[in-house]
Amino acid sequence: MPKTASPLSEMTEAFVYDSSDELKPDESFLTTALPGFKDALSARRAIRIFDGEPIPEGIMRDCLRDATLAPSASNLQPYELYWVRNEKKRVLLADDCLGQPAATTAGELIVVVARKDLWNTNREKLLRIMTADGAEPLVGPLDEYYNHIVPMLRTTDTLGVRDLMRRVVIWFRARKGPTVRTPVSRGDHRVWANVQSSLAAQTLMLSLSAHGYDSCPMGGIDKLRIRRLLGLPRGADVSMVISAGRRRPEGLYGRRIRLDESDLIKVV
Ligand SMILES: Cc1cc2nc3c(=O)[nH]c(=O)nc-3n(C[C@H](O)[C@H](O)[C@H](O)COP(=O)(O)O)c2cc1C
Repeated sequence: MPKTASPLSEMTEAFVYDSSDELKPDESFLTTALPGFKDALSARRAIRIFDGEPIPEGIMRDCLRDATLAPSASNLQPYELYWVRNEKKRVLLADDCLGQPAATTAGELIVVVARKDLWNTNREKLLRIMTADGAEPLVGPLDEYYNHIVPMLRTTDTLGVRDLMRRVVIWFRARKGPTVRTPVSRGDHRVWANVQSSLAAQTLMLSLSAHGYDSCPMGGIDKLRIRRLLGLPRGADVSMVISAGRRRPEGLYGRRIRLDESDLIKVV
């Protein structure tokens, strides 16, 4: 594949492959997938009181695997899902969720962790997978993307010198045309990882719903204590805790309320 000035657009082509074991939408897809998807979507509510029964292990594992099918930037998957099964840790975790009933009554607790610090570890793993089993070494746009552009974007240092350099480069580039303007600060790297972890979190909750189980995402939690409880490094960022299980009827606090469509959906 020739080197080009636009590796991002070329990547799309490079990822197109034929695999007979992957589901390919056809005309029947609308009738088979859509009703189930809508059911799972509308059944998912934030449930605050569960019956406390654990979710069967096989189902939990399936839901967690589904979550990992969420998309992620550069496919770097910079997050981890901690399914906390150790009883002592579970009690401490519920406490760190400020004793919210959604946590204390849950059958299962999952901590969603954003790992901006794992970008390079994951990149190296990804490259190994992509080139395993006699596959060709990366060339052209993919090589350029994963071996130059991704490191250029994601490398950081404690003093923020890299971010400052990127800020200058971006300022010059942006004068010429559209430019990716982040990351240029520590906050940008955190946001980046939290975007990816949140997509996995939502996929997990939808999968739980499709399996007939309920959930509640919790952000009103002590993230520092949870990070320490799990023994995670400072670069790891607890995104949220998801409680899961079967709802008790009183665990649904009210009807679903959403803003007017026109507030949320803008057609321009
Ligand atoms: C990131 C995030 C953090 C949340 N934190 C809490 C929380 O700490 N406690 C809680 O009871 N609900 C929490 N929620 C649930 C929301 O209150 C709930 O999703 C919202 O009211 C909409 O209701 P629905 O999910 O039933 O449609 C959180 C939701 C999200 C997405």
